[in-house]
Amino acid sequence: MKPALDRIPPGVHSLADYARIAADHIDEATLAHIEGGTGDELSLDANRDAFDSLRLYNRVLADCTAGSTRLTLLGEALDHPILLAPVALHRLVHPGGEIATARGALDTLMVASTLSSDPLEDIARHAAGPLWFQLYFQPRREDTLHLVRRAEAAGYTAIMATLDAPLQTPGRRALLAGFRLGVDHQPANLAGQAPLPQVALAPGSSMIFQGMMREAPGWADLEWLLGQTRLPVLAKGVTHPADARRLIDLGIAGIVVSNHGGRALDGTPSALDAIGPIRAIAGPAYPLLLDGGVRSGAHVVKALARGADAVMVGRPQRHALAVAGSLGVAHMLRLLREELEITMALAGCPTMRDITSDALFKLG
Ligand code: FNR
Repeated sequence: MKPALDRIPPGVHSLADYARIAADHIDEATLAHIEGGTGDELSLDANRDAFDSLRLYNRVLADCTAGSTRLTLLGEALDHPILLAPVALHRLVHPGGEIATARGALDTLMVASTLSSDPLEDIARHAAGPLWFQLYFQPRREDTLHLVRRAEAAGYTAIMATLDAPLQTPGRRALLAGFRLGVDHQPANLAGQAPLPQVALAPGSSMIFQGMMREAPGWADLEWLLGQTRLPVLAKGVTHPADARRLIDLGIAGIVVSNHGGRALDGTPSALDAIGPIRAIAGPAYPLLLDGGVRSGAHVVKALARGADAVMVGRPQRHALAVAGSLGVAHMLRLLREELEITMALAGCPTMRDITSDALFKLG
């Protein structure tokens, strides 16, 4: 396994190149943990297949001289609609951790995970751009609130509550490869938390329902959170329109349509297929993000054409970070942005507003 380079290696022209070369820079078991999904990896595959099977029209003679990828998202002026998704424990692939990633996020917004290797305050001190904090509800409300207060104090401008993974199970690929989280890879933000009291399960009760799910958040917890912070709260991990409806009615400021990169429930629709019905009920002005399988500028255009305002990338940050640290992350984002601009020009969509479902070829 090679350490990260201090330059971009030759032959990196796309995110696929970063993914390929990253295999030399990440040990096999860790790579299996990162790349894999849950179960039969149907959700994981669906994300990729959905992008592959959607087609864009090549439009001719479009004037793109006033073209721009700029947008405003929840009050944040952004140069382009590609954000860094929350991904746990960056030090698994690079000793610089989230700080190195944040330094490379030159022209975008990074969403820092509750489960980061570096404390959220350190990430904020080194970030090149704006930051949102991804929140995993903790079993005790006081611990959840402490995380939120720390994020507020450190200058994070929104909270993204991840709701689709109340229990997390290792993927089969990771298990087969023997992946184990070492003691030196623990989430820094949770280091000060008092241990939870041990509760013995009653005989005959389920380790899942009465065990792990006892600590899972419910609607009342989300409502409680909304009453605790002035920051906008987004909900991440939504695929069902009825959940989206209820979240919007509750006052959630934005939704991330996502199947957690295929790492939560296996067999869900892809994020790309799930977003249309959610856009339909949310209305045109409601902030909707999408993640899962975004690997090219054409994917970004397809996601926006289906109703997303912006996208997030997960695994590609890990690949780029492992290959070339902060420089790799900045370069990966640059590649994506350039591909996005090229796709917009050829699809005759000079601005974000011009990317609509008209860009998509529909059979029949
Ligand atoms: C994740 N994801 C994730 N999501 C989250 O809300 N909090 C987290 O800590 C993590 N951690 C995490 C670790 C790893 C290794 C992966 C691959 C993913 C999910 C992530 O935010 C995002 O939803 C997906 O990664 C998007 O799919 P792609 O871009 O990886 O295909």
